[in-house]
Amino acid sequence: MSLETMTQRSAELFAKCVGHPPKWIVAAPGRVNLIGEHTDYNDGFVLPMAIERYTVIAADRNKFRQVTLHSLTTGESATFPLRADVERGEPAWSNYVRGVIAGFQQRKLKVPGFDAVIDSSVPFGGGLSSSAALEVAAATMLELLVGSELDPIEKALLCQKAEHEFAGVPCGIMDQFTSILGQQNQAILLDCRTRVAEPVPMTDPDVTVLIINTNVRHKLADGEYAKRRAQCEAAARSLKLPSLRDASERELLACQSSMDEVAFRRARHVITENKRTQKAARAVQTSDWESAGRFMYASHASLRDDYEVSCRELDAVVELAQGIGEGGGMLGCRMTGAGFGGCAVSLVKTASVPHITKQMADAYEKKTGIQATIFPSRPAAGARVLK
Ligand code: GLA
Repeated sequence: MSLETMTQRSAELFAKCVGHPPKWIVAAPGRVNLIGEHTDYNDGFVLPMAIERYTVIAADRNKFRQVTLHSLTTGESATFPLRADVERGEPAWSNYVRGVIAGFQQRKLKVPGFDAVIDSSVPFGGGLSSSAALEVAAATMLELLVGSELDPIEKALLCQKAEHEFAGVPCGIMDQFTSILGQQNQAILLDCRTRVAEPVPMTDPDVTVLIINTNVRHKLADGEYAKRRAQCEAAARSLKLPSLRDASERELLACQSSMDEVAFRRARHVITENKRTQKAARAVQTSDWESAGRFMYASHASLRDDYEVSCRELDAVVELAQGIGEGGGMLGCRMTGAGFGGCAVSLVKTASVPHITKQMADAYEKKTGIQATIFPSRPAAGARVLK
C-alpha cells in the first residue's frame, strides 16, 4: 500500500472517530539490514537502510488528560490516562507508544492528551523493525504535540529505551537510528560505538534490494535475543575487553582454550561480522557486487553456525538463492534482523527481479509448504512530518 493511501486512510478514520480532521500526520519507515547482524549491541558496525514501508500516525490534541489510540492494522483501540508515570498496559502494541510518552515525560516535556490513528505497512514480526517504526512515528508525533524537536540521536535513544523498558527487548540502536536518519538512495554504515554514520550511496540502477519474508516467526526469538546479548557481554569479560568490538580474531584464538565453546563461537561471529560489514560497505560503494554478495553469504553462514539465530526456513531461502546464483541474477542473500524467522535480504540484478521473485516463491513453497512474501525496496528517507 502506498504512503499516500495510508495517509488518506488514517486521516479518514481519524475524522470518523474524533469528529474533525487530524492536525498532524507523520510517517516513520521500517528498515532492512544489508549486513552487520547482532553487532550493534556489541559497539560494532551495521549497514542498514530504511525501506519504503511505513508506520503512519494521524493525531491531534484532545481536551482530556488521556490518550486514545486506534490501530488500523489490528482494528483495536487503547485508551489510557496520562499519569505522571505512564505504565505498561494492553493491547501489547500500545506499549511502544506508552514507552515513548514515558521518555518525553522523563525529559520534563509536558505531553498533552491526544487522539491518534495508527496504520502500518511494515510486516509485524518480520525482522523489518515494525516496532522501531512505531516508536519513531510516535516520537515524531510527540515532538509536534509538545512543540519541541529532539536531537536525532537522543530521539533514537529514547525510542530504544521504550523498547527495553516497555517491550522487554534489550535491543541495540540500529533500528531506531535507521528509522530516524534513513536517506533516500543511501544505506548507512553506522559505527554503533561513536554513532557516526557514513552514507553509502546505492544508486546503481542495475541492482535491486529484494526482501524475502519467510512468513514464519519462531517463539524463541525474544528470549534467545537477550541470551545472545548476555553471552557476548560474558565473552568480552573473559577477553578482558570493554566489548567484542575491541577484540581481534587473534586475541580470541589466544583465549580459546580458557573459554566456553559457545561463548567462543558467539564472539567469533561478532568479530568476523564487524570486518565483513566494513568491507561490504566498500564493495557496495564501488559497485563490486560480487564481493558484496560473498560477504552476505558468509554472514549468513556465521549467523547460522556460530551465532545460531537462523532457522530452517531462512536457511532454505539462502540455499535457494545460492542455487539461482550469479548466472540467474542473484548476487547475494542472508537472513536479516534478529533471526528465528522473519526476512532474508538479497541483492539481485534488476533485470532478474520478476523471474527471481517467481522462482523463489515457487521453490520456497515447494520446500517448506509456506508462501513467502517477496518485495523490492529502494533505500528510503527517515521519519518525516506529512501534514
Ligand atoms: C533486532 C534489534 C537490533 C539488532 C538486530 C540484530 O532488530 O532490534 O538492535 O540487534 O536485532 O542485528
